[in-house]
Amino acid sequence: MYSIIFIGLFFQSCNDSARETERLNEWNVELPSHFDSLPIPLNNPMNKAKVELGARLFYDPLLSIDSSLSCASCHIASFAFSDGKIKSRGQSDSLTFRNSPVLFNLAYAPYFMMDGGVPTLELQIVAPLMHENEMGFDLFKLSDRLAENEIYQELSLRAFDRELDPAAIAYSIAAFERSLLSYQSKYDAYLSEDKSVFDEEEKRGFDLFYSDSLNCSSCHSGINFSNYKFYNIGLYQSYTDPGRWRITEKAADIGKFKVPTLRNIEYSAPYMHDGSFATLEEVITFKMSGGKTNENKSDTINSFQLNENDQKSLLSFLKSLSDPIFVEREIQRREKL
Ligand code: HEC
Ligand code: HEC
Repeated sequence: MYSIIFIGLFFQSCNDSARETERLNEWNVELPSHFDSLPIPLNNPMNKAKVELGARLFYDPLLSIDSSLSCASCHIASFAFSDGKIKSRGQSDSLTFRNSPVLFNLAYAPYFMMDGGVPTLELQIVAPLMHENEMGFDLFKLSDRLAENEIYQELSLRAFDRELDPAAIAYSIAAFERSLLSYQSKYDAYLSEDKSVFDEEEKRGFDLFYSDSLNCSSCHSGINFSNYKFYNIGLYQSYTDPGRWRITEKAADIGKFKVPTLRNIEYSAPYMHDGSFATLEEVITFKMSGGKTNENKSDTINSFQLNENDQKSLLSFLKSLSDPIFVEREIQRREKL
């Protein structure tokens, strides 16, 4: 599908230079105690120069074939790195296949894309770059295009001890993405120190979310509200996008999608893999319905009743997962580049 095997050849050389620069590699971030420490792969340690290089590349339209689109065209900080659209416009006015997802706390994810088709962030970059509906370009040509750029060359030397090449591009963007961390929502404050941050409504919403009758937390579990498994939730009787089936080609996987995080959900409308719900109220109404009949639908998806007040409480809890400090920090980071 993508030149994944080809890019794989560069991984070894990247491993070696990562070892050389190891003494320079330090990345400290103080996460609250309910987070595991940040998982950083041994072959791509983080350092300031690398993360800055990745950030600059992420925001650079030179990454697309006609220099019109950057990663940030579809992953915008103020939308928690989604983009507010049902589908996004890529090269030559083509639409993306799916709704643009949020990007943060990705270091904790075991694989990427809504069908789980990409195993690492380093490899993920190849997908949008080369896809004709996204940036329509190529890591090799991109590395030639950026060869004359002094800032990139200097940062690459500091980050990797060598000139910018396809692997340095992929590895630095991945390091930047691992540095996108959201951990300062009201919910985090509630877990860390201060139970009084939640008002009655949020507390009720929290209890409903974790109740056996709603069962939200059987899938939206853990610190990032995802068990990273794949489910058919009965969004459709017949799916146009077969989801996980695209990877496994098993009939039982048709219509299964990776459980999305619910952090910053307030910023990432429209919802679902195809952006088919405009508001969180619509999502709650759908979840109450138990979804449409579908032979692959998960057993844990059932209909339930909530009165108006309880619906409002569930919504308030979902909004307590918003992290405006993260969004503001990322807007500022871009301005300082
Ligand atoms: C034209 C819009 C567009 C552009 C440009 C774009 N993306 Fe995306 N991105 C998407 C869409 C749509 C998806 C969801 C694809 C899927 O799940 O099949 C996605 C998925 C992702 C994911 C997976 C997230 C997850 O949780 O699984 C990452 C990471 C990502 N993009 C990073 C990038 C980077 C880095 C760039 C620049 C090199 C980029 N994107 C450029 C639209 C875009
Ligand atoms: C069986 C697992 C499962 C259960 C239980 C479940 N969800 Fe989901 N949820 C999913 C999956 C999978 C998706 C993505 C479906 C898609 O994109 O087609 C999703 C999507 C969502 C979305 C939209 C996220 C986005 O970024 O588009 C919200 C909000 C949500 N769920 C909230 C809830 C709430 C609230 C509950 C409890 C009432 C709940 N979910 C129960 C699996 C589950």
